[in-house]
Amino acid sequence: MKILFLDQSGKPGGAELCLIDIAKPYQNNCLVGLFADGSFKDLLEKNQIPVEVLTNQKIQVKKESSLTQGLASITQLAPLITKVVKIARNYDLIYANTQKALVVGAIASFLSGRPLVFHLHDILSPEHFSQTNRRIAVTLANRAKLVIANSQASKKAFIEAGGKAELVKIVYNGFDPQNYLNQESQIKQLRQKLELDDKFIVGHFSRLAPWKGQHILIEALAKCPPEVVVILVGDALFGEQDYVKQLHQQIDELQLQNRVKFLGFRHDIPQLMAACDLVAHTSTAPEPFGRVIVEAMLSGTPVVAAASGGAIELVQSGINGFLSTPGNPQELTKVINSCIQDKQKTAAIAETARNTASQRFNVANINQQIAQLLQKL
Ligand code: UDP
Ligand code: GLC
Repeated sequence: MKILFLDQSGKPGGAELCLIDIAKPYQNNCLVGLFADGSFKDLLEKNQIPVEVLTNQKIQVKKESSLTQGLASITQLAPLITKVVKIARNYDLIYANTQKALVVGAIASFLSGRPLVFHLHDILSPEHFSQTNRRIAVTLANRAKLVIANSQASKKAFIEAGGKAELVKIVYNGFDPQNYLNQESQIKQLRQKLELDDKFIVGHFSRLAPWKGQHILIEALAKCPPEVVVILVGDALFGEQDYVKQLHQQIDELQLQNRVKFLGFRHDIPQLMAACDLVAHTSTAPEPFGRVIVEAMLSGTPVVAAASGGAIELVQSGINGFLSTPGNPQELTKVINSCIQDKQKTAAIAETARNTASQRFNVANINQQIAQLLQKL
C-alpha cells in the first residue's frame, strides 16, 4: 500500500513525532508531504522516510479563526491542493495527520478519488478550537474512510462536535521501550553536567505554551523545600514568546532564578527524563494524549499528570503514577512532597508504570493495529 502522509508542521510537536513511528513501516512506499520547512523534515530524513516540503507559503488560519478567515485561507490553499492532487494520483491513500492537512487532504481526496484517513491528535473542544474550526474539521473528517483518534477523550470530543462515531477507531501513540533504557552511570553524569546531582529534580517536558501550564509547576515549586529544582525542557515551537517572557517574570518575582533551568528543545528526552526524580505534566486544558506521560513511565521516572483528557486514560493515581487537579499548584506541591517523603513507594509505582507501559504502548503492537485498520479500507 502506497501512502501519502500530510502534515502542516515543519516543527516536531507530538503529532509529528508520532507520525515518524507510523510512517516508518511504509518508508519504501510512502511520502510525507509537509506544509512548512523545518527540523521535522530533518528528523524524517534521519529516519529514512521520504519527505517533501510542498509549500513555503504560510497558511494564515489559526486555531481560533472565524468563518471568513477560514474561507479566505481555503482560496489561498489552491496551489497547494493542486500539487497534492497530482502527487496523490501515485498513491493509494491520503493520510492527514493535522487539522490543516485535513483541509487539504479532504479536498485532494475528493479531486483525486483517493480515500482519506484522518489521524485526530486534538481534542475538538471550545478550549482548543473556535466553533468554526470545529465545524470545518468534523465536516471534512466525516468524509474520511477512517478517523484514528489518539485517545477516548479525543474521540468523545469529535463526536460531540458532530463527528460520525462509526468512523472512529482509537489507537494510542506507540513507543519503542528499548529507546528508554539508560545506563545508571550515564544518568549520573548527566545530573552532574546539569549541576543538579544533589537536588530533587522535577522535569517538565513540553513546548512552552500557556495551556501546557509550566507556570503551574513554577507556582508549586515556590512552596516546595529548597532541594527541589525544576528543569523546563522544550521550546516555544509555535511563537509563544509572550508566555516565555511571562514565565521568566514569574520566576524573578518568586526569586526562583537558581531553582529553574530552561534547557530549550532537546533530542535526549529518555536520558533527561531518567535524570529526573519526578516528571510533571501540568496542562491546564485537557491533553489529547500526552506522549511525555508515557515516555516518563518508560524511562522509569515517576510521573504526575494533570487529571483531564487523555491523561486519565494513561495514569491510575497511586498505581502507575499520580494525578493532580489541572491548574492547582497546591495539589502539585503536595504530590512533589509526598514523592520526596516516600521514595520507596514512589519507586515501586514507577516500576509498575514501566512494565505496563512497555506492553500497552509498544510501537510494534500499535503499528500492527494501524496496518490492520488500513488494510480493511
Ligand atoms: N519533546 C522533545 N524535545 C523537547 C520537548 C519535548 O523531543 O525538548 C517531545 C516529547 O518527548 C514528546 C513530544 O515532544 O514526545 C511532545 O508530545 P506531547 O504529546 O507530550 O505534547 P504535544 O506537544 O504534542 O501537545
Ligand atoms: C498532539 C496532542 C498531544 C498528543 C500528540 C500525539 O500534539 O497535543 O496530546 O500526545 O498529539 O498524539
